[in-house]
Amino acid sequence: MTGSPKPRLIVHGGAGTWVGFDEASVLKAMRKAAEVGWEILKAGGSALDAVEKATNIMEDDPQFDSGFGSFVNAAGEVEMDALIADGSTIKYGAVAAVKRVQYPISLARLVMTRTNNLFFVADGADQLAAELGMPLVANTQMITPQEFEAFRARRAKNAVSQVGQGTGTCGAVALDANGHVASATSTGGVPEKRKGRVGDTPIFGAGGYAEDGLGGASSTGVGENIMRFFLCKRVVDSMSSGIGAQMAAQSGLEFLSARVPSPEAGIIVVGSDGSVGSSHTTSHMPTAWVTADGDIQATMKSIS
Ligand code: GLY
Repeated sequence: MTGSPKPRLIVHGGAGTWVGFDEASVLKAMRKAAEVGWEILKAGGSALDAVEKATNIMEDDPQFDSGFGSFVNAAGEVEMDALIADGSTIKYGAVAAVKRVQYPISLARLVMTRTNNLFFVADGADQLAAELGMPLVANTQMITPQEFEAFRARRAKNAVSQVGQGTGTCGAVALDANGHVASATSTGGVPEKRKGRVGDTPIFGAGGYAEDGLGGASSTGVGENIMRFFLCKRVVDSMSSGIGAQMAAQSGLEFLSARVPSPEAGIIVVGSDGSVGSSHTTSHMPTAWVTADGDIQATMKSIS
């Protein structure tokens, strides 16, 4: 690629059915996340900062299954997973089953930048957060009143996991003016998950991936279907043939759908060539992205 690329950004709020949600409110939140990331990129900031800060917005918003708003597990606790990937170094930071951190994606970034390791889990990750200066919160502080009621209702009915029914994992992918790509993905996992269950989100190459010169991706949906196929790495690698981000996203989900019946998955992609794409097998995946003209668009479906 010659010359400086134009920065690009796309965010997702999770693949799912999104039944009974306030569409206008969800799309407003998606726009807000994209705007926060875009302001950073427009000012010459890094793709890493853009994806982290955009994801923080969604982690704070109870409409999304990440941070505050995460689904509780079968034990009635929130256990959150996150992954941030830096395409300029092919380094990443990941955390899984964290319970006391308000912004799991920011802890993942600290893992990447402030430790010699890549992946921390459970109590050790929460302890690391405190040592690195992040405030710890009570686990109950991460549970919304709505989710608490939903948990009680599920208990009362002895219901099994409602996978794919509702809010989803959040993610962001960006290309900055220096040609660096980054991706961020943050989740509370699936409702009624067994304590200790971890899905695709914190798995490098599955929940997210970034590699300068190719692009970056963030996935969403039923982790058990995504992590077997390293969906994000596969999709980013496919762009080496010259296909753009939209074709890569669609082909990746076609590959998955040919191997897993109803994979309940989605992906957002940015190519190092400045292309942006998204695709999902679910009925909805709230998405917002920055067009080539610098406008922010949002939809409950994929880009095209
Ligand atoms: N994609 C989120 C999860 O399966 O945990």
